[in-house]
Amino acid sequence: MTELELKISQLDPERIPVHVAMIMDGNGRWAKSHGYIRSDGHAEGVSTVHRVTKLSSDLGIKYLTLYAFSTENWNRPKDEVDTLMYLIGWAIERELPELLANNVRIVLLGDIERIPEDARQRLFYARNATAHCTGLQLNMCLSYSSRWEITEAVRKIAYLAAEGKLDPKDITENTISDNLTTAGIPDPDLLIRTGGEYRISNYLLWQIAYSELYFTPALWPEFSDEEYVEALLDFQKRERRFGMTSDQVKHTN
Ligand code: IPE
Ligand code: IPE
Ligand code: MG
Repeated sequence: MTELELKISQLDPERIPVHVAMIMDGNGRWAKSHGYIRSDGHAEGVSTVHRVTKLSSDLGIKYLTLYAFSTENWNRPKDEVDTLMYLIGWAIERELPELLANNVRIVLLGDIERIPEDARQRLFYARNATAHCTGLQLNMCLSYSSRWEITEAVRKIAYLAAEGKLDPKDITENTISDNLTTAGIPDPDLLIRTGGEYRISNYLLWQIAYSELYFTPALWPEFSDEEYVEALLDFQKRERRFGMTSDQVKHTN
């Protein structure tokens, strides 16, 4: 048995998280430490996306949400942004046959209109081609930030109220959730951030209200399958209390 198989065998199949979100950080530092340019780190990071997607699908996780490019990332040097956009389009096209074979559905979250035409067309193609898939749902957050998303939701809700279609008295938490890009997707059970930073960087702020957080110093290109399963094992050891007491949670389980 390999180390990976051993770790997988320790997982409780009944308590696999439904939704795992990831902040894929550390590509630039990985490249620098190997004497490469930053963009080489992004290219290397694509293989981790491939592995993590396959393992999530194999383990029966229903939703995997990856932070691939933030609203703030538009402020990076033009060369790096151009390479990232090229890589995203190229990678999605290359991965499509395997995504289809594994029954993975691609969903795009973010201000996709800002993505350059060429990459955008490839993304739309992959999204449409996998729309019928019923296995893992892979949410790719592109040109995404949580404050952007919440601002858009507020605008939509305000229009509904102004048009008389929604009485402000009837606004509930569900009204907000239903107007976010993640409408219909259960909140993440587990959020993993690689790259050693202890911050959220404008990611899924509403949705992670009760998510379990896992931070690792591993840089994204070297985030291994073993460590992913380690994060899942760690998640399974935790008690999610949602504001209640430990005794209450034990009795409702
Ligand atoms: C994450 O790696 C990828 C993106 C933000 C697109 P970084 O590029 O942020 O890598 P570091 O944090 O500089 O090492
Ligand atoms: C967060 O990483 C965004 C993505 C992983 C796409 P950053 O590297 O942009 O985050 P900060 O700027 O260090 O907070
Ligand atoms: Mg970073």
